[in-house]
Order: sequence, then C-alpha cells, then structure tokens
Amino acid sequence: TTPPTISANGNSYPPDSWTNVPPSILSYLPRKLHLQPSHPVSITREVIESCFPPPTYTHYNDLDPIVSVYENFDSLNFPPDHPGRNRTDTYYLNKDTVLRTHSSAHEAEIFRHNKSAGYTISADVYRRDAIDRSHYPVFHQMEGARMWDRRKVEGGDVARVAREQLTQLEEHDLEVEDPNPTIHPERNPLQAEHHRVEEVEAIAAHLKRSLELMVNELFSRAKRRATGDAAADEPLKVRWVEAYFPFTSPSWELEVFWQGDWLEILGCGITKQDILINANVPNQLGWAFGVGLERLAMILFSIPDIRLFWSKDPRFLGQFSTADDIKPFVPFSKHPACYKDVSFWLRSSSSAAGGGLRSNSQDFHENDMMEIVRDVGGDLVEDVKMIDEFAHPVSGRKSICYRINYRSLERTLKNEEADRLHEGVRTRLVEKLGVELR
Ligand code: PHE
Repeated sequence: TTPPTISANGNSYPPDSWTNVPPSILSYLPRKLHLQPSHPVSITREVIESCFPPPTYTHYNDLDPIVSVYENFDSLNFPPDHPGRNRTDTYYLNKDTVLRTHSSAHEAEIFRHNKSAGYTISADVYRRDAIDRSHYPVFHQMEGARMWDRRKVEGGDVARVAREQLTQLEEHDLEVEDPNPTIHPERNPLQAEHHRVEEVEAIAAHLKRSLELMVNELFSRAKRRATGDAAADEPLKVRWVEAYFPFTSPSWELEVFWQGDWLEILGCGITKQDILINANVPNQLGWAFGVGLERLAMILFSIPDIRLFWSKDPRFLGQFSTADDIKPFVPFSKHPACYKDVSFWLRSSSSAAGGGLRSNSQDFHENDMMEIVRDVGGDLVEDVKMIDEFAHPVSGRKSICYRINYRSLERTLKNEEADRLHEGVRTRLVEKLGVELR
C-alpha cells in the first residue's frame, strides 16, 4: 500500500516506494527548538553565533528542513553507496526528497548566494537511530564556514591575508594538543590540484583558532559555575584529531577533556573545492565546521537525558534564561523505570526445508524496530537494548531479544500503562516487520 500524499511546510510530496517518514516525525518540524527563547538548545546557538559576528558572518536559522537527496548527499560528494543514504538511516518523503540529516545540506546553496565572507547555519536535523539517553530522531546542528576570494585579496595572496586575520583573532588560555601535521599525504591530503600548501596552512590555522575560541567561550561559561571545584581554575584541555568527511580535506575533529574523558565536540576541515566550483564561486576557498547542539547543551547545562529538550514541563523550561546564566540543570525527581523484554524470531524468506539453509534475515534492521517503539511509546521510552541473539542450530533461523526500558521524565508510570505500551509494540512488530513472537 502506498502511503497518502505527504504535506509538510506548505508543499505536498507524492509518495513512492522510498517513503518512510511517519507523521509522528513530521510533527516535529514546527518545534524549532533552536529558535525557542530561553531553551538550552537556543542558548547554545546564541553563544556560538556570538563567536562569529556579522557583518563577517551571516546567520541562517530558518532554512527548510525538507531538502533534495542531491542537496543532502550528492552535492557534498557522498558516494552512491554511502550507508547514510539507506532508508534504514534517513527519512525519505520520496525517492528525491529527505528530511535533512545534517546542516551541511545547505552548503552548496549558501555558497552560491552568500554575500558575506562567512556564515553560520542552525538547523533541526533528522536521523533514524537507536533509542537511548543521548539519541533522538530529531536533533540540532550548527555549522559555519569562512571563505576568501582570490580575486578580492591583494595579489591573490589568500595565505598572507588569512595569516594577517589570524593575528586579529583573540588569544585564549586553553591547553591545546595538536600533534599531527596540517597535511598528511595519505591520512589527510591536500587538494593539490586546487590549493597551495601555504594557503591551507594559513586557513587551517585560522580555522583552529576560531574554533578554539568558540569552545573556550562555551566551556568557560559552564566552568564559571562549577561549584568551588579547584579544577574549575585549571585551563581547559582540547586536542585536534585527524578526521574524514566527504566534503572537506584535510579534516579534523576537536575534542575537549571534560570530567575525566575526551569528548568529541565538532568536525571541520578545508572545504572541498568541487563544492565551491559547482556553486559557481570557483575563486573562493576556505574552511567549514559542524557541531551538534544537544550534545554540547547536555554538557554545558548537565542535562542527563536528550528527551528533556522536548519537554514542555515548566520544571524543565523554567530553569533556563539567557546565555549569561549557564548553570547546571537540577533534575526534578527521577521516576522509577519499568523494563519489559520482547523476543522474536526473524522472518525467514527462504524455506528451511532440507535443513542447514541459512534464513534470510537481511531485511531486518534494528532502526525499523526502534521506530515502532518510538511510534508506540514516544518519550516514555528511555532506552532499548538488545540483550540476546542466537541462531537456531538446525534451521539457522535467528532469534533476538530486546529490553525496552519505560520511564516517564515527568511522572510515575503505572505498570498497567507500560504493559499496554508493550503490548502495542508487540502487535506492531508482527504487523509491520512480520516477526514471530516467542
Ligand atoms: N556535517 C558533519 C557532521 O554531521 C560535520 C561537518 C560540517 C564537518 C562541516 C566538516 C565540515 O558530522
């Protein structure tokens, strides 16, 4: 059965065999937490924007989350077989149209039209994923970019201008580890047909200092609040790690040492020149970065569960005011959890007759099961874990057991209510995935 025509943000999208976005996910489109005043996601955005002020940087905050497959993947050099393109990972309105999976989906378009030297984007993004305290199918990203135009700098010398602009950036007192060379021929190559080494050295230095200043700004606001902790006076430690993205080279991640662990905070790199050439600005070159806002906000405000961001409970929302007042969230009582297990045989499409035939369970993807649990249980599910898995010794048929942890953030869940939800999950698993309950 083909799903009904999808209407979203004033447009309609004819469905096809790729359509997999449920109405429950479309209902998040109007929420725009990154623009909701005094919301921790929005406060985090404001702090980041303050590090990239106009007129050098234009701030884009309200771009349509419905984008083409071309914008989300092809324009950024994602190969045709990249796993991110799978229907198990991405929400498709139809075969040509998706809910953006990252804010980078807008890069090409902004490069084409942007008039300032740089920009930031903040955006709600959508990914099919596991269920636990740090994953939610909707979250928010920010990204930024800075360009230099060879035709507009004196003598076309971008390297000199970027170095000069670096000296105009502030200093900071972070402790920075950066053990690798800017360019590594195999691990982190120069785009040799487009860029000179000195250009990339200068742009990379400008990128790294800009992002160090941003991290310093964010974490010093949180640290200022650390209660009389001696460690609060020590300089924050960060380190640069080599990375890979299809749309930058060389690329890095920035990690921050926070409460005993190295946390990955953002990805960045030198923008692939193809993207700028395709956007009709072949004379520009520069850097780009992307960062997840929930992850940062969870650290800065000590928010223990990603579901809280969606809460309309004044006991949550009432604890946040402005970017000048970043203090730890005080959890309102933790309500009891109630876990329930579900075990099932996967559908086997090949007959087991004759024995020894491996069942075909390739059509089961965990994200499909996660979505059923989300659809039935919504924010009453805290996490879902696989606790057992085995193949029948003769038929080869596979059995899986998941443990679903039901817990409300706002009230005590009655056992009967959890039972009802769980029964709903069991029924839908059979209906939608054709599994056989055990
Ligand atoms: N889009 C990347 C992500 O989602 C982050 C990124 C943005 C990396 C821009 C480099 C440049 O992880």
